[in-house]
Amino acid sequence: MNLQIGNKSKNTLLFFLQSDDIKAQLDAKNIKQKFSGEACEIAYFVDQEDCVTMLLGLGKKESITKKVVKTALSKAVRSLKKEKISDININISECAGLSESEFLNAVIEGVKYGDYSFNKYKTTEDEPFEIDTIYLNTNVTDAEKILTRANGLFEGINFTKDLVNEPANTIYPETLANEAEKLRDLGVKVTIYDKKQIEDMDMKAFLSVSMGSEKEPRLIVLEYNNSEDEKPLALVGKGLTYDSGGYSIKPSDGMKTMKSDMGGAGTVLGLFKAVATNKVECNIVGVIAACENLISGRAYKPGDIVGSMSGKTIEVDNTDAEGRVTLADAVYYAAKTFEPRGLIDMATLTGACVIALGEFYTGAITRNQEFLDALLQSAKEEDENLWQMPVDDDIKKLNNSEIADIKNSGGRLAGMISAGLFVGEFVPEEIPWIHLDIAGTAFIDTARNYYDKGATGQMVKTLYNLVNKY
Ligand code: BES
Ligand code: MN
Ligand code: ZN
Repeated sequence: MNLQIGNKSKNTLLFFLQSDDIKAQLDAKNIKQKFSGEACEIAYFVDQEDCVTMLLGLGKKESITKKVVKTALSKAVRSLKKEKISDININISECAGLSESEFLNAVIEGVKYGDYSFNKYKTTEDEPFEIDTIYLNTNVTDAEKILTRANGLFEGINFTKDLVNEPANTIYPETLANEAEKLRDLGVKVTIYDKKQIEDMDMKAFLSVSMGSEKEPRLIVLEYNNSEDEKPLALVGKGLTYDSGGYSIKPSDGMKTMKSDMGGAGTVLGLFKAVATNKVECNIVGVIAACENLISGRAYKPGDIVGSMSGKTIEVDNTDAEGRVTLADAVYYAAKTFEPRGLIDMATLTGACVIALGEFYTGAITRNQEFLDALLQSAKEEDENLWQMPVDDDIKKLNNSEIADIKNSGGRLAGMISAGLFVGEFVPEEIPWIHLDIAGTAFIDTARNYYDKGATGQMVKTLYNLVNKY
């Protein structure tokens, strides 16, 4: 689907607020249609020349937000596809409390969310209908700029969604690395390290998680340099292309969605795609320790004590708490190799986070409030839900081991925080650090607003916003 500034279609989408005089408004346009203007209400009206007018409700004026606009547009686009309407003009204006450019951006985002689908494995259905062009009828002076930004951004978001939706028999460490290598065309430096090289780097923690799988691990390192700044921002993503739990095996229900356990890695890759597509002025590095957590005669076991690149020893209390073990080496490597001015790790790390915040909020912890405040502000601007959890030395003590330097599970209580603090133990104290737990938000079971069931691509926008100004 193309998005274009202009009004070249014979079809038009008109917005309506829920108000008392809606009937008069419709009469004035000669539209004979029962319509109340409720949020996301959709109706079509076809005139004698076969021109389609689509009516889209936005609800009550006082409750209009960017989120409402995005949700309505995502539903409208799905409806247009269903009705096989190939082009339409959308008349943009300022709306309730939103300026015309805010409204325009929300419309574009809603359209992009509505247009996404992951249907490549459906062979029995008809060719899905694709919209040809949506025209944005607007006078906003920087409309082209807003559109270009969103185009690049959604290249990234949809890359993330595709990677996370892809099953684990197609996306495993080697193929995830191949996907990363595609970013070279956009000017990203991509280095892939194989098992032998990972051994040479002494990443004993990462390797121990990967051992149960026939598929060998890969360390994926991304560098994008497009600014005078000396130090980069580091983004580290959990890259479990599948998590069975290992010998601390998951019940089958819990395993069903574990192809999404590389959601952090997907977010990092999507961010690099967006940033490089739009040539954002920034220096960023990305690190992904990609492997599978499976069972075999070689797999690591509960009770094992494993080393790590940092030299710290880890008692494996639970093989299902594998993400933090891989991240221990990934964040340490990122910190030591690049001396970043800040480090953010992103991970589908704990069920505890899902219990606390549901599929609604990404959980965050930090040692540096100023850094997280900047990220929280970016999240707010981008309409992505992010919630800070507290940190505390007493919670950190849950990770104390009797026979090693640290153990990989602090138990169920405060599980999101102890898991995050485990990762933080491998980030040198002087580096500003944020941990994001995206276990609930990266991949959702229940479609909501403009998010489809499955991968959501959340946090790509927030991070994109942050690197633009941080
Ligand atoms: N990948 C899971 C966390 C997860 C759960 C992500 C649900 C998405 C949805 C992680 O590796 C895990 O299994 N964590 C354990 C840790 C526990 C054993 C301390 C958990 O949360 O149960
Ligand atoms: Mn696990
Ligand atoms: Zn996991």
